[in-house]
Parts: sequence; structure tokens; C-alpha cells
Amino acid sequence: MTRISLSVNGESREAEVEPRELLVYFLRNGLGLKGTMVGCDTSSCGACTVLLDGASVKSCTVLAVQADGCEVTTIEGLAQDGELHPVQRAFHEAHALQCGYCTPGFVMASVSLLQENPSPSEDEIREGLEGNLCRCTGYHNIVEAVQAAARVGA
Ligand code: FES
Ligand code: FES
Repeated sequence: MTRISLSVNGESREAEVEPRELLVYFLRNGLGLKGTMVGCDTSSCGACTVLLDGASVKSCTVLAVQADGCEVTTIEGLAQDGELHPVQRAFHEAHALQCGYCTPGFVMASVSLLQENPSPSEDEIREGLEGNLCRCTGYHNIVEAVQAAARVGA
């Protein structure tokens, strides 16, 4: 076992993890943050997307030990003082989800996309989110949600 210490959603956490444990399972099973989903386990679907030191990563491709000393933000860390993050609100208002399984990953990837490019074109949104898969929505409302979030300066 290896001792790691990191910040998760602004809170300092320390834990003993197996060197082979994936970050997504540490978050879900070690910390009980079940909002980060596992869709494929093979880096294809993006359901497990979180922010690692501000950049979006697929947490099924990162070992928990690699997050040692880092800041991790999960979907649970976005809302502040009971207020949804603007990207969460935009997904809600634009009906950008159906079953919702992919949604935490899309929201985190969208937050990262808008940090890098606050005013993306439709093509840039589609390209920026191409690592995330949704089996329900057909993507149209997801793109609209990101455009709406961009308009309010998310
Ligand atoms: S579970 Fe990580 S990309 Fe699908
Ligand atoms: S809303 Fe069901 S997979 Fe995206």
C-alpha cells in the first residue's frame, strides 16, 4: 500500500491505496464520491472525467498514486453554497440529459473546455467533447447547453 495525500473538492484527504488502484475507483469506493461514473473502464466513454489540477482527465486512465499532491475536482465539487455551477444549470435547462449516466463526465469536460475556450464555436464544442459518449441524447442539446453556459460566462 502507498500513502497519498491530495485535495478533493477543496478538502484535504489522505489514504492508503494499492499502487494499481485507478483514480476512479479511489474516488468512488475510497471516498464515496459516486458521481464519477464508470462506463467502459477502457478510456473510451468519458463518463469518469474529473479535473486533475484543473485539466480534465479520464480517471480510469489515471492511477490514484498519480494524483498524490494534486487537486481533484469531481462533479460533487462544482455546486457552491447550494447553487448549481452554471454548466450544471445549463445542462438542466437545455434538457441535455436523458438517463444521465454520461452527464457528470460531460459536465466536467465542458467546464474544462470553457476554461480553455470561453466562447467556443459549435464545431469546437463537438471537437472538445469528442472523448465523451452519450447513448441517449444525440448530442444536440449537450452542445446547446455548452453554448448557453458560454453565454453566461461559465
Ligand atoms: S470509464 Fe473512463 S473513459 Fe469510460
Ligand atoms: S444521457 Fe444517457 S448516456 Fe447520455
